[in-house]
Amino acid sequence: MKIAVLPGDGIGPEIVAQAVKVLKALGESFEMEFAPVGGAGYEASGHPLPEATLKLALDADAVLFGSVGDWKYDTLERALRPEQAILGLRKNLNLFANFRPAILYPELAGASTLKPEVVSGLDILIIRELTGDIYFGQPRGVRECPDGPFKGQREGFDTMRYAEGEVRRIAHVAFQAAQKRGKRLTSVDKANVLETFQFWKDIVIDVHKEYPDVALDHMYVDNAAMQLVRAPKKFDVIVTGNMFGDILSDAAAMLTGSIGMLPSASLDANNKGLYEPSHGSAPDIAGKGIANPLATILSAAMMLRYSLKMEAHADRIENAVKAVLASGLRTPDIFEEGCVKVGTEEMGNAVVKALV
Ligand code: NAD
Ligand code: IPM
Ligand code: MN
Repeated sequence: MKIAVLPGDGIGPEIVAQAVKVLKALGESFEMEFAPVGGAGYEASGHPLPEATLKLALDADAVLFGSVGDWKYDTLERALRPEQAILGLRKNLNLFANFRPAILYPELAGASTLKPEVVSGLDILIIRELTGDIYFGQPRGVRECPDGPFKGQREGFDTMRYAEGEVRRIAHVAFQAAQKRGKRLTSVDKANVLETFQFWKDIVIDVHKEYPDVALDHMYVDNAAMQLVRAPKKFDVIVTGNMFGDILSDAAAMLTGSIGMLPSASLDANNKGLYEPSHGSAPDIAGKGIANPLATILSAAMMLRYSLKMEAHADRIENAVKAVLASGLRTPDIFEEGCVKVGTEEMGNAVVKALV
């Protein structure tokens, strides 16, 4: 099994090192090859997604990714910014289905900013379409405003779009995921305003005919954002577009105690995947040794489950994380009175030690 390991920028290398340590402790002989990506890729070879890094990701059985981005690259032309690396990987590897499971470990009920009774027992799955929508739609850019009161001025614009096949395939993925869970799917859209999302809704309703055992409902994205903090446990599986999914999953992260707890899997049609925490490179805490590595470690568990078909090892990692949380160890983002505050590396070591 060949794993491409792409640590990236900011806290990326710190948290990926912990996940790599956990993978090495499983007793399997994974072949892990490291390559620079994001700002690190730009520094190494002038491009955020160097050709050799892309080739490695294409050839590997799975990709373990840290995070990319740093404020110092914000003035570069867009094609050279670190974020283009993750967007390019998603597009080139056709990773259209992004799974972001928001699970609250019982020990962290007090770490969430929401009341324990609102979040305890939380187990929802956000499925975010990842290769379409306004993220990739063309045309985009800055042009001369063609009409209206601002005619003749410069205007910035992007294109929101979804092809029928793109909506169908993510809808199938979502219905099938719901079938394996609580059999309830909420499709989140903005059909009351946007053509793209009326179209999305119509297609999801059509695909639903093939999954009569799944209860489907629809929710506007603004209401969904509110319901996620009002009564998150009412959801089972949520399916939504690329941009809404980006925003809602960060909101859902806080239900789990911290964004440092939310893993993700980005899959193609054959379950080849890229695994990364849902958070970014956290430049504000990079280099301090305090980032929470659990989202990345849990992403490695998802990699074992979805791409490498090593379910038992995935369970081992998840159980080790539970045991470590039960033992009271906490990085600062999930720290509470009465717990033991540890850094990134100590947390990684504790997970390794808790593996059975
Ligand atoms: P961020 O997710 O990096 O950080 C948001 C806040 O959460 C910060 O206060 C940070 O310290 C905290 N945080 C994030 N991960 C944490 C962890 N593991 N442990 C403890 N605290 C954690 O989002 P941002 O600040 O908006 O973006 C920073 C950079 O990351 C930007 O360049 C952005 O484009 C990039 N980014 C990259 C990815 C990715 O690589 N997939 C995802 C999101 C953002
Ligand atoms: C994420 C990030 C990325 C996104 C950025 C860094 C391109 O926020 O993975 O959630 O918007 O998809
Ligand atoms: Mn995001």
